[in-house]
Amino acid sequence: MRVLGIETSCDETGLALYDTSRGLLAHAVHSQVAMHEDYGGVVPELASRDHILRLAPLLQKVLADAAVSQESIDAIAYTAGPGLAGALLTGASFASGLALALGIPALPIHHLEGHLLSPLLSKDLARFPFIALLVSGGHTQIMAVTQVGAYALLGESLDDAAGEAFDKTAQLLGLGYPGGPALAKLAETGMPGRFKLPRPMLNSGDFMFSFSGLKTAVLTAAREHTLSAQDKADLAAEFQEAATEVLAAKSLAACRQRRLSTLVVAGGVGANRRLRERLDSAAAKQGVRVCYPELELCTDNGAMIAFAAAQRLLAGKAEAPNKEGAFAVRPRWPLATA
Ligand code: KG4
Ligand code: ZN
Repeated sequence: MRVLGIETSCDETGLALYDTSRGLLAHAVHSQVAMHEDYGGVVPELASRDHILRLAPLLQKVLADAAVSQESIDAIAYTAGPGLAGALLTGASFASGLALALGIPALPIHHLEGHLLSPLLSKDLARFPFIALLVSGGHTQIMAVTQVGAYALLGESLDDAAGEAFDKTAQLLGLGYPGGPALAKLAETGMPGRFKLPRPMLNSGDFMFSFSGLKTAVLTAAREHTLSAQDKADLAAEFQEAATEVLAAKSLAACRQRRLSTLVVAGGVGANRRLRERLDSAAAKQGVRVCYPELELCTDNGAMIAFAAAQRLLAGKAEAPNKEGAFAVRPRWPLATA
């Protein structure tokens, strides 16, 4: 079975072809980061317009890269939510139109399910059941996953998502948008501990998070001092220590509580090196195996959408396709109800 995956929920246009017997055949992503940079964040209308321009050429690219024909595709999966309504609609309508023309089903997929299952696409295969740490620009969640389609939410952020906190802190330090990777890079040259930042909710005894206070603490420190380049690096390093300490501690506590020995890490912040170091060392002490998606599949992409749809089809859990080509997007959509 061969599935085309289409991702357009935010500022990346991602298309991919996944084959259940041959694996990932091709994937291509166009990032709009350069376009939104001047505005300091994603401009939804610009995002939608750009997705429309990119979809058809990217489809041609993945078909050519995989050396397969359009007619060999068995199903088309698209991100139906959560995300920006207009951006979601571009992928949903493209997928539904193409599926109608080819006489194959169009399948709506939850963006976070894509992230969540993406480590299963890597060589280092994860197996059910597992605890998942989902850390993206929009979400910070710990979930217990027993099988495809069975996602129990154990805890999440009460305010900012981890990626959002990285991005906002980076902006405070003048690092531009999206600041997560830039902040992580700057942190490598800084000394954690010189500035003292809180570890929010570290000892709350549950799996909830809060990151907005951390960002405010950075703002306060930035207001109290005129920051030199080294000060900024030290603040970045301390911020990264604080955020990753809480994320790692709670993920491993969830593994202990549920007596699970596999931890899957997904979403953009999963690319953070310090987070990986902390998770790996704490997990080793606890006999837990940590599985990450391939680095290039950490951020938004079409491969995870194609893969999630294929897993649902194999498990007999795909949403029934609409024969008339009608579709809907769900900008707000809790994963537990997917
Ligand atoms: O999963 P993703 O691509 O998009 C969403 O669905 O949100 O995640 C993007 C987020 C951004 O906030 C970005 O700054 C963050 O992931 N990110 C990082 C790193 N790489 C990406 N944060 C910290 N360290 C990184 N290396
Ligand atoms: Zn994402």
